[in-house]
Amino acid sequence: MQPRMTELLLADQAGIARAAERLRAGELVAFGTETVYGLGGDATNAQAVAGIFAAKNRPSFNPLISHYASAEAAFTDVAADARAHLVAQRFWPGPLTLVLPRSPSSQVALLTGAGLDSLAVRVPSHPVAHALLRQVGRPVAAPSANRSGRVSPTTAAHVLEELDGRIAAVLDSGRCQVGVESTVLDLSAASPVLLRPGGVALEDLEAVLGPIQIATVDASADNAPRSPGMLMSHYAPALAVRLNADAVSPTEGLLAFGTPLAGAAEMFQLSARGDTTEAAARLFEGLRYLDGIARLHGIAVMPIPQSGLGRAINDRLRRAAAPR
Ligand code: TXA
Ligand code: MG
Repeated sequence: MQPRMTELLLADQAGIARAAERLRAGELVAFGTETVYGLGGDATNAQAVAGIFAAKNRPSFNPLISHYASAEAAFTDVAADARAHLVAQRFWPGPLTLVLPRSPSSQVALLTGAGLDSLAVRVPSHPVAHALLRQVGRPVAAPSANRSGRVSPTTAAHVLEELDGRIAAVLDSGRCQVGVESTVLDLSAASPVLLRPGGVALEDLEAVLGPIQIATVDASADNAPRSPGMLMSHYAPALAVRLNADAVSPTEGLLAFGTPLAGAAEMFQLSARGDTTEAAARLFEGLRYLDGIARLHGIAVMPIPQSGLGRAINDRLRRAAAPR
């Protein structure tokens, strides 16, 4: 990422309009919510979402939360059941994130949800965030606006300490009132699971939903290890994945990076020019594409350098290649 000037925007009409315009153009804008500042990007633009991971220096692709101006908008991207409607009615807008099955029609980029079949959605209550999301008119992916491994920022000044020169703008919406992240509640399976404690108390959720299982490992830390099948359930293709391929068999699909190896049955190019950010934006699309071709017996992946988003790509590919 080239260092650039980060524009500091006031949360007035002009500032909010400018922030919305920059987000719609695929740029990154940090904005305040009632919990912490988020590092926002157009959730439907895979290249913008790849930029979020690059700006944060994240060594792996964690699924991100998509933010909406209303529950109605959020529920077009996920399948909301009666429980979801119930808690949304009670706690939205507010510091609650719901993990729900992704709608087949959702335009949210696969990278936003780290390739998973579920999607995390949230409707923040902060009036500036709300006005911004309304004007963007698209879901906005936003992890906390800190570099990987550091604490979540609660003022615009904190955001600049973390990300000055790495993002297009910060919308200064004052100090965050809640100060801790949103509660993450997984409603994608039969019994509700608390994935991360946060701004909405477990007791208040249980008053509405009944008993809630608590995930065993704290998901609040970036890169925290998580139990398989639960939080750590990450996307993996059904086909065997072979890394660092320097040759390819005629029954394999090739996930190419740079000049493609010859002889593959099928090919998906991650980045012809060898750009790791472009490759990250196309990674899950490529895996899903090749995995869906019935006559293939495996996926061969060309070497990807351990620089830029290459580290996160390789992290994800190693897990996809691990014996299952
Ligand atoms: O308060 C907040 O939630 C802030 C503000 C900006 O909205 N955002 C935030 O995002 O804390 P982030 O990316 O730092 O944390 C997102 C959390 C992670 O623990 C992630 O694993 C979980 O949500 N998550 C997101 N999508 C998920 C999914 N499909 N399945 C399971 N967990 C998911
Ligand atoms: Mg975070």
